[in-house]
Amino acid sequence: MKDMSDEGMKFHCVLVSGGCGFIGSNFVRWVVEHQPDTRVVVLDALTYAGRLDNIRDVLGDRVSFVHGDIRDAELLDNVVPGCDAIVHFAAESHNDNSIADPGPFVSTNVTGTYRLLEAARKYDVRFHQISTDEVYGDLALDDPARFVEGRAYNPSSPYSSSKAAADLLVRAWHRTYGVRATISNCSNNYGPYQHVEKFIPRQVTNILMGVRPKLYGDGLNVRDWIHAQDHSSAVWAVLTRGRLGQTYLIGADGERDNLTVLRAILRVMGRPEDGFDWVRDRPGHDRRYAIDPSKLRTELGWAPVHTDFESGLKATVAWYESHRGWWMPVKAATEAKYKAQGQ
Ligand code: NAD
Ligand code: TYD
Repeated sequence: MKDMSDEGMKFHCVLVSGGCGFIGSNFVRWVVEHQPDTRVVVLDALTYAGRLDNIRDVLGDRVSFVHGDIRDAELLDNVVPGCDAIVHFAAESHNDNSIADPGPFVSTNVTGTYRLLEAARKYDVRFHQISTDEVYGDLALDDPARFVEGRAYNPSSPYSSSKAAADLLVRAWHRTYGVRATISNCSNNYGPYQHVEKFIPRQVTNILMGVRPKLYGDGLNVRDWIHAQDHSSAVWAVLTRGRLGQTYLIGADGERDNLTVLRAILRVMGRPEDGFDWVRDRPGHDRRYAIDPSKLRTELGWAPVHTDFESGLKATVAWYESHRGWWMPVKAATEAKYKAQGQ
């Protein structure tokens, strides 16, 4: 089924959970473009965040779709044995939703990961866990430190704590049962196909609808931005060349505060830089995330391609401008939810 080459492990079939979501669909497209010998099976429950349309252009001989839930052990018995690796993206992914209703986060992110790990154990399938830098909690604005792999987990929100719990299950399944697992913790992604509930698409689509963008708190919270395609290439590097049992942090040296990002969006879209509203802060709002990607860069030789944030942002804005039919149907309901929260 699998063999080793100079380029690392080869996988003939990769099961991508959550492949109809934002990053998962970008990853599926990246594999189709860059790894001609690998087939992909996408397993996705198509929640509010997942859409088959996100991968429709690549469905065919090399990419197939299974509609189902990662918590369904019987379904996993049918799907997992056909593949030689699982790349696990499926999750409830939005902090604000986790604050309003944490239940689905515990269920999908913790129990769902447990079910997939059990299937990986049963069928001896390589497992890669997609996680977030938010498991480390936050840094002060004036702290010179960035997150490194050995830092203790200290999550703040229901979302990040459910991801932290899942990561710990992965570590335990590797150590106790020998599941061939790795974990990557990535910083904030941007790019096409991101749900309009998230910061950048929310502001871009607000502006396209003539609504003023909304900035939480004092706008000085820092996020470390990376393009979803760079996240995809890094995941492939870890999957094929990462050491089993190891964690790799993924980041592209993209630290910016939210106010700076919002002003850049307004500038790119030809609007005055003060054309936005300040709104209620997120409870427990993490101050700053920052990744030190040295291990990934030096050990696996990975480097990002999208190093110019402004041009990546321009291309992302252009994508939302030309894909109104993709986001318009979910925009009103998303904004109604925010409005009810005073955001
Ligand atoms: P997303 O919300 O856009 O997509 C999640 C996908 O998972 C959807 O297609 C959804 O239908 C599917 N899904 C949800 N519950 C499921 C279940 N029970 N069974 C099967 N499928 C289910 O999320 P995203 O932003 O693409 O994030 C993907 C992964 O990357 C998550 O694990 C997230 O924690 C991680 N991550 C995200 C970011 C970011 O900036 N968005 C950064 C670092 C890590
Ligand atoms: P988000 O995209 O939700 O990602 P995360 O919470 O995982 O970092 O938010 C990114 C940052 O933008 C975060 O500091 C919260 C802030 N934010 C706003 O200021 N306004 C908004 O409308 C949203 C959705 C987020």
